[in-house]
Amino acid sequence: MNKNELKNKILRLKKEKNAVILGHYYQIEDIQELSDYVGDSLALAEKALNVDCDIIVFCGVHFMAETAKILNPSKKVLLPDMEASCSLAESCKGADFAKFKAQHPDHMVISYVNCSAEIKAMSDLICTSGNAEKLVKALPNDQKIIFAPDKNLGGYINSVTGRDMLLWNGVCMVHDAMQAEEILKLKLQYPAAKVVAHPECNAALLKVADFVGSTKAMLRYIQKTDCKKFIVATEAGILYEMRQNNPEKEFITVSNNESCSCSECSYMKLNTLEKLYSCLKNETPEILMDNDMIERAKKPIIRMLDISKELGII
Ligand code: 13P
Ligand code: SF4
Repeated sequence: MNKNELKNKILRLKKEKNAVILGHYYQIEDIQELSDYVGDSLALAEKALNVDCDIIVFCGVHFMAETAKILNPSKKVLLPDMEASCSLAESCKGADFAKFKAQHPDHMVISYVNCSAEIKAMSDLICTSGNAEKLVKALPNDQKIIFAPDKNLGGYINSVTGRDMLLWNGVCMVHDAMQAEEILKLKLQYPAAKVVAHPECNAALLKVADFVGSTKAMLRYIQKTDCKKFIVATEAGILYEMRQNNPEKEFITVSNNESCSCSECSYMKLNTLEKLYSCLKNETPEILMDNDMIERAKKPIIRMLDISKELGII
């Protein structure tokens, strides 16, 4: 079957089964093209809560599909490849985190959405990179906080809010590996370019960035900034949307390993058109969770969505 036949079959099956495809910005272009909604993790979580369909096919990584199931448990939620994990979620296991939390009983727990349902269930509030700063700023100044699992995002939020949140020692393997030295070299090569970076990047890199923000915030910044070249320190999948919205602008990628001139998340790229087709056809692999876990993990996510609405972020 050639690519176009495969794409047409996916679209037909999607209609027949009343399914909706939610696609993260880091998915391969073909999947973004077929998705009903493409967005960052905050926008997709919001979509998952309200979407009207029988099946949600989540083209992203496991914690995102799990979040969709938690928010809309009556729907069948499919993930094309169950191995699509995330180094942040992997770095924070339930038993270890429970011990850490018990050592700091006077702290509230804010967890970045890139974590398992088990960690969410142990959290008071969930955040995404799109709302973390505003959510933390909205809390009383004397509130003690544990922030998990991303020490780079947590460190960045500490630096912009003046807080001293206690950080879990996890990193995104894609963003953490990008180096400030490479950005500085690229800046010499392209002196007029602005540097945009995701807050999962390490602190040294964030220091040399002109703009730090979530995928959605970077897209907004690029659109409104009167500059023709951007150095992009995040996962390369986002370039598809950046180029579509700004055909006249040039985007320079940052590498995170010697074999590639750009940075790709190997977990995100596990989803392929073939796996998307087979998962829609066979309605598997499916995200299955017990009701108790759904209920416990849901509370801090709903709290995040409610506060985000109050603050006008979504
Ligand atoms: P966003 O929250 O910006 O969608 O990012 C998710 C992610 O996995 C970043 O690496
Ligand atoms: Fe996780 Fe990093 Fe991949 Fe995002 S890019 S899914 S944070 S490993």
